[in-house]
Order: sequence, then C-alpha cells, then structure tokens
Amino acid sequence: GAPLDVDLTPIQDGQIVNVFWRGKLIFVRKLTEKEVTDMKAVPLSEMIDPAAFDTRVKAGHERWLIAYGNCTHLGCVPIGHSGNYEGWACPCHGSQFDAVGRVRRGPAPTNLPIPPYAFETDTKLKIG
Ligand code: FES
Repeated sequence: GAPLDVDLTPIQDGQIVNVFWRGKLIFVRKLTEKEVTDMKAVPLSEMIDPAAFDTRVKAGHERWLIAYGNCTHLGCVPIGHSGNYEGWACPCHGSQFDAVGRVRRGPAPTNLPIPPYAFETDTKLKIG
C-alpha cells in the first residue's frame, strides 16, 4: 500500500487522532509536556512489556506517539483518555495502556505496536 501523509498542524496538545493505513487503525497522539515527563518516569519494572520511553517515540519528535490502535489481546479498540495510566482502556476485557501505548494492565500481553513512519517536516508525518 501507499504511504499515508498526515498533516499534524491541527492536532492539539493531548489530542488523539485516528487514521487508517493499509486497513489498520493507527492512533496519532500529541503528548502534553506532562505526559512526556510522566511517561519518562515510569520504572521498567512496573511494565508488562518493558519499553523505555525513547523506544516509543522518535528522537527530536518526542511529543508524538504513532501506534496501531487495536488491543494486543483480541483486537478491540481501546478508549483514549481513560484508565489509570494517562492512556487507553480496552472496553472488552479491561487491558490498559499508558500515554505511549505500553500495556500496563492485562490481559493484553504486549504494547501497541508502532508502524513504520517518518517525519518529513515537523508538521508532516508519513506513515509507511
Ligand atoms: Fe482488549 Fe481483550 S481485546 S482486553
């Protein structure tokens, strides 16, 4: 499939935008400064699928999370800005993800995967 261009200009601090690429839901989230600070501070020992903050974002663009939007348990779509970890809560069986898509409560076994993407400019994202 062709790459997908996403204009980041209208996306506000804290906002989550849903896009589709190759038929898959992808969350594009602009983290707030507080979310960045909080997510950097989570000890790896508290995570189900440990992943440091800087493995979840691109250097120089740490305010942006780009992640697949289906729960890694059985594929439901988690609800944004809900749960206990500044992220998402899955309505199907209660998994919770934090603001950079790391699973923090099961039964989901793994973090939300990150698709291939690149910043063409500070405000233009290419997924794929
Ligand atoms: Fe999300 Fe089961 S599909 S918790």
